[in-house]
Amino acid sequence: MITHQHHDLFIESCAVRQLAEHVPTPFYAYSQGMIRTQAAAYQTMAATFPDAMVCYAVKANNHPAILSLLAEEGLGADVVSGYELRQAINAGIPPQKIVFSGVGKTVEEINLALHHRIAQINVESLAELDVIQTLAAAFGHPARIALRINPNVDAKTHAKITTGKEENKFGVPLSDLPAVIHRVQSSPHLHWQGLAVHIGSQILTLAPYQAAYAFVMQVVRDLAGHGIVIDHLDLGGGIGIAYHQGPEFTLADYGAMIKTTLGDWPGKVIFEPGRFIVGAAGILVTEVLYIKETQKKRFAIVNAAMTDLIRPALYDAVHRIVPVHQSDATPQSYDVVGPVCETGDILGRDVLLPPLHAGDLVAILDAGAYGAVLASHYNMRSFPAEVMVAGDHYGIITHRQTFEDLNTHRSVWTGPATPKLQG
Ligand SMILES: Cc1ncc(COP(=O)(O)O)c(C=O)c1O
Repeated sequence: MITHQHHDLFIESCAVRQLAEHVPTPFYAYSQGMIRTQAAAYQTMAATFPDAMVCYAVKANNHPAILSLLAEEGLGADVVSGYELRQAINAGIPPQKIVFSGVGKTVEEINLALHHRIAQINVESLAELDVIQTLAAAFGHPARIALRINPNVDAKTHAKITTGKEENKFGVPLSDLPAVIHRVQSSPHLHWQGLAVHIGSQILTLAPYQAAYAFVMQVVRDLAGHGIVIDHLDLGGGIGIAYHQGPEFTLADYGAMIKTTLGDWPGKVIFEPGRFIVGAAGILVTEVLYIKETQKKRFAIVNAAMTDLIRPALYDAVHRIVPVHQSDATPQSYDVVGPVCETGDILGRDVLLPPLHAGDLVAILDAGAYGAVLASHYNMRSFPAEVMVAGDHYGIITHRQTFEDLNTHRSVWTGPATPKLQG
């Protein structure tokens, strides 16, 4: 759905060149059809399990236009902050389909989760468990919790998106299990329904998943020995997409592996995909400002930057970059860089593109996940605009910010005229 037709790049039936006549670059464009297709594919896999729930990881892209689409498709949400929780509920995702992950939930956030009686709070530490139990006691109804365990499994992905190793901050180590059991068994305010595991993102092989899920099943059996019945397993997200090479397995392979690993365990499974749902459905469209040639390099300086898409700078991620209008001229090698005053402001290294000139448009592919959500205002740059496309229709879902927008909630300080701290 994002392809060149007769030399021009199309997203669904909209020519990107034409979109750029109506929307200021840089902008993100998302294919509604691709998001729906990915969501439906995941739902189909999940439907092979009795009573499964697909909870989209809101962190991948929290735009209300995307969340409401996924609500329509019947997905739930995996949230990691109070505002993500509110965003999901506002988009029409029912609280009974929302799980709350994250290592640092505040009192306000836990109270919000209890207030909405969401499906599950994934507990990340003993200290957090104590806070949840105190707040649930005050609320007067038990908190439904799952314990996120750290399986110490290497997901074989980039170190900055690995979450399931001992040295990572995520999950509770097995050595804390006796203390968790003691606390849960002595509190009427905690309903321990599940275990959760998420070992990382952009995972391309099944083996790490299999190791993590086998580990989880061992814990399920150990807990059964203590009379604790685990009837929810939250298996996390993490399936990679084809920035270049995609996963070595299909969704069906993933589902089959889970069935084998879980055996005859009769409970409910929860999935938390993010990137898989929205990653390939988004592109970042940017315009060439200047071409600069040095002894060593040829740079295409574009008007998008690390402030719009930080993945290459942060994770050494490599995105395909394509011309919006393809030509038959012999390609040349470019470093595609942004205007930000950082050497790391690189969107693509040694990218083969047809000879570029100022004013040409290029598109950075597979930018729908962890793209716009990670934008920053560094160098006082506005967040990029965002556009949703369905067939030959498009809608601007985020307007480019103005100078005034960037200064909203900021002011000069008037010094001693302001109130004094009391006491
Ligand atoms: C707890 C949890 N669940 C789900 C996800 C989604 O991962 P992905 O976008 O790779 O599917 C993440 C992201 O790292 C996560 O931390």
